Amino acid sequence: MSVSEAFIRGIPKAELHLHIEGSLEPELMFALGKRNKVDIPFQSVEEVRAAYAFSNLQDFLDIYYQGANVLQTEADFQALALAYFERLHADGGVHAEIFFDPETHTDRGLPFSVAIDGLLAGMKEAEAKFGISSKLIMCFLRHLDEESSFRTLKAAEPYLDRIAGVGLDSSEKGHPPSKFARVFAAAKERGLKIVAHAGEEGPPAYVHEALDILHVDRIDHGNRALEDAALVQRLVKEGMTLTVCPLSNLKLCVVHDLKDHPMKRMLDLGLKATCNSDDPAYFGGYVGDNYVRTAQAVGLTQADIVTLAKNSFTGSFLDPAAIAKHVAAVDAYAVAH
Ligand code: ADE
Ligand code: ZN
Repeated sequence: MSVSEAFIRGIPKAELHLHIEGSLEPELMFALGKRNKVDIPFQSVEEVRAAYAFSNLQDFLDIYYQGANVLQTEADFQALALAYFERLHADGGVHAEIFFDPETHTDRGLPFSVAIDGLLAGMKEAEAKFGISSKLIMCFLRHLDEESSFRTLKAAEPYLDRIAGVGLDSSEKGHPPSKFARVFAAAKERGLKIVAHAGEEGPPAYVHEALDILHVDRIDHGNRALEDAALVQRLVKEGMTLTVCPLSNLKLCVVHDLKDHPMKRMLDLGLKATCNSDDPAYFGGYVGDNYVRTAQAVGLTQADIVTLAKNSFTGSFLDPAAIAKHVAAVDAYAVAH
């Protein structure tokens, strides 16, 4: 039986793969560009949206880093975060673990504190306004060298009690997880959780490296793990969470049609997949749209949706009591609907 859109939108869920800079809608980009006197190489919101036709990850990243230039003050980052949490709330989201890319901002001269203080203020506001809990994951840009990640980890020292984990993002091909072995070991020593983008465009070997060298707690994307049957078996056995992003995969040509998306196959194989939006302002949908459009395209059942929602909590970095509370809420929702 096909599952209704209302059921999908209403089910309590967490988002575990969201780049906050990727939630910058063109309208806010223009407003901040004007306020901060930063030039945007587009004339209108329509022109910006028309430019969001990407053939691969790098195509997107070139535009995404340019867009981030309008973010200049703590208030800008706070507004960005709050706009995202409003969308999450409308989609039944009750918890989020959001990525930010400090080097994108420090490399253009902003002090480390500007982005993080603004985001933390936005997260606090979302908790008060919507009852949404959230955690922050600091990502290292893998196209830069490991020295830059070490500088970033050092700059983050005064904030380590408010950072849940570190991640690895940006251009995947040619920048394997092993390039960052030392900085991830240092982050782990400081008690931080570890995640890494792997197997989005890069080969299954990068997923192996993320597991064996970075000792990740979650894999971000992981699509290409499906090319390696032994790796799939290992991910299933270890109960490793994959933060899958279907509309991102479509926009970045990881899949050419949403009907070919592996989400259903992943669930049927017993992989612990979750459904996420990645960079929703650029990829045409927030977390609710990712669930709904994927369900329609690949035929997810009500049981699959319940599994995805539960995985989003059991794969989160919340404490066991909070996870149990959210999983019970998912069960209660399923019984009531
Ligand atoms: N940064 C923002 N979105 C990303 C993605 N999908 N992959 C790698 N780096 C990113
Ligand atoms: Zn991502």
